[in-house]
Parts: sequence; C-alpha cells; structure tokens
Amino acid sequence: MLKALNEQINKEMYSAYLYLSMSAHCSHVGLDGFANWFMVQYQEENLHAMNIYSYINDQGEEVVLQAIEKPPSEFGTPMEMFLATLKHEQFITKSIHGLVTLALDEKDYATQIFLQWFVTEQIEEENNDNEIISKLKLIGDNASSLFVLDKELSVRVFTPPPAEE
Ligand code: FEO
Repeated sequence: MLKALNEQINKEMYSAYLYLSMSAHCSHVGLDGFANWFMVQYQEENLHAMNIYSYINDQGEEVVLQAIEKPPSEFGTPMEMFLATLKHEQFITKSIHGLVTLALDEKDYATQIFLQWFVTEQIEEENNDNEIISKLKLIGDNASSLFVLDKELSVRVFTPPPAEE
C-alpha cells in the first residue's frame, strides 16, 4: 500500500507539471483565461500530492519521492488540450480506484477512508473537463466565442483548504 501511495504522489506531481506546461502554452498563444484555468489546476494537483504526502507522514511511514517525467510542450487546439486533459484524468481515476481495491484487499480501512475524498474529487475533475469539452464543441471554429470562454475561464480561483486545527 505504501509503495502504491508513494507512486500516486508522483502521478499527482506529474499531473501538476502537465497542467503547468499547458498553462505556459496557453499564455504563449494569448489564451490567458485558459492559462489561468490550468494554473489553478496545477495548484489543485500539488494539493492532491501533498494530501497523500501528509497522510503517509501521519501514518508514521516514509515518503519516497521519484523523478517527475517531462511533460509535453505542444498541445494543439484548445479542444485537443481538453481531450488530453480528460484522458489524463481518466487515467488518474483508474489509478485511484486501483488504490481503493488494494486498500480493501489489504484490509487497510484507514487508507480506504482516506481515499474516498479522491474518488469524489475525480468525479468532479472529469465533469469539469467534460463541461468545457461540450462548450468547445459548440464553439467550433468561432474565434469570438472562444474568447468569451477564455474570459469565463479567467475567473477560476484556487481555494486553499482551511488550515488544520
Ligand atoms: Fe489529482 Fe486531477 O487528479
């Protein structure tokens, strides 16, 4: 279980890195709202990694960090970018579900409860991506509609969790 949780830290850190790279790309092509959306996503993924980090520490176990893979830097159109994002989140969902299965197999009920938050979070993450993909489908090649969506995505803010007592 410990090894799998440490691997999940790496997957969440890679997710953060991937979205940071997407944010950089969006800034470069002038889609500042999209860049903001991916920057918030980057912060959320860091938080996911740190949640697992803290959990391992709280259990008196050792966090062992691995190298983070280089993310791509070319992403194509906004639609291609969000399809890639959804695909990546589906991969993460599968990984989280695998952790839950392992926790149940090992009768590690504390970890199983800990992972419930991630199961719920993944539903939200995939839903967010699907909503934006639907909007991008409606937009098609319409540049002015794309800028309306860009403006919409510019208001997303990262909300840090409340500090623990
Ligand atoms: Fe940490 Fe986007 O899943």
